[in-house]
Amino acid sequence: MNNFELKNPTKIIFGKDTIKQLESEIPKDAKVLLLYGGGSIKKNGIYEQVKKALTKVDVVEFGGIPANPEYATLMEALQVIKEENITYLLAVGGGSVIDGTKFLSAAALFEGDTPWDILTNNIRTEIGMPFATVLTLPATGSEMNSGAVITRAETKEKLAMGGPGLFPVFSILDPQVISSIPQRQLANGLMDSFTHVLEQYMTYPVGALLQDRFAESILQTIIEIAPKVLKDPTDYEAAANFMWSCTMALNGLIQKGVPGDWAVHAMGHELTALFGIDHARTLAIITPSHYKFNFETKKEKLAQFGERVWKIKEGNKEERAHAAIDKTEAFFHKLGIQTKLSDYTDDYKGTAEEIAKRFTDRGWLGLGEHQNLTPEKVEKIVKMAY
Ligand code: NZQ
Ligand code: ZN
Repeated sequence: MNNFELKNPTKIIFGKDTIKQLESEIPKDAKVLLLYGGGSIKKNGIYEQVKKALTKVDVVEFGGIPANPEYATLMEALQVIKEENITYLLAVGGGSVIDGTKFLSAAALFEGDTPWDILTNNIRTEIGMPFATVLTLPATGSEMNSGAVITRAETKEKLAMGGPGLFPVFSILDPQVISSIPQRQLANGLMDSFTHVLEQYMTYPVGALLQDRFAESILQTIIEIAPKVLKDPTDYEAAANFMWSCTMALNGLIQKGVPGDWAVHAMGHELTALFGIDHARTLAIITPSHYKFNFETKKEKLAQFGERVWKIKEGNKEERAHAAIDKTEAFFHKLGIQTKLSDYTDDYKGTAEEIAKRFTDRGWLGLGEHQNLTPEKVEKIVKMAY
């Protein structure tokens, strides 16, 4: 097991009818900016619940943060923060609204030239403006981690940021919010959380028995509840297990003491930036090719995953590892998610070269758990995913 440090300061308030607890959690003297997305919260009753809990606090609102939170929109919100002397941010939404809020938390206190530098220069945020979240869509784990991914349409870029100052103070997770989520977004949440676990598990063994079993238990839970969540999003038990699995998949716990990959996400973000494909679906496109291309270095864990999660008993180690990749791709299809780039766009020619060039330009010369995935290898993986 590798050495590690673990600190996660986010308070989680989980369960039925917990949104009203905003009233006691938000400081009474705060001037709050309530941030939300395209308006789903106004149709499903979440907005009313939030407003009711905030009647005693000074609140300004900013709606319209799009999926894949857009820099230009966030800069408008930053203006509001400055003009209104906001002291506390409250994100009500999925990963996009929460990530946008994290960017604002950092940008509000940033002293450099332009907040875009936080993303291009990899500036870690040590202290941000305090913020909390009401999660409306289980998927990213952003409600309990300190990372964010921001898009800039103007340059077709999608870049990550983070730092210890970007953990939410608290996050409210009421699984009842799932009942209004469209099928496409439910499938995305299942896919994204599943891949988050894989990125931290499908590397090579380091004797971290407990971390492996944490990861496998989350994968097994997602596989078990996926059909129930998709069939009936009002099934509270399934919804609760779905929501908590997504949070646990990316709150830092399972990555401690083990190597991480994250190359699937790096390539996937480029597909979102170039084609606007939903984040989760980009992961489904890259994952099978990535595991086939890196089969030799990942086969120990692939075989273990096959045996423990997919219950594959037959064949030698290599055969079980190959069968695990096939089972995983079949699971993505069962979620209703296609796994080839050509399923999403006809305009895919040259994509692999473009992504390899971007990685070269950024100096990303060695991705993955061995830091040996060169832009040339990335180009091959993306081509395999056409
Ligand atoms: O905008 P509104 O109208 O609210 O609608 C949203 C949006 O259209 C809708 N929705 C959310 N909750 C709903 C709902 N519709 C009905 N009922 C509800 N209760 O769902 C749509 C998608 O929302 P979005 O927030 O974009 O989805 P998700 O949570 O999947 O977030 C995706 C973003 O998070 C980033 C992704 O790259 C992408 O930008 N990620 C963030 C990570 C992190 N911070 O740790 C890690 C991830 O790997 C990921 O990169
Ligand atoms: Zn993800």
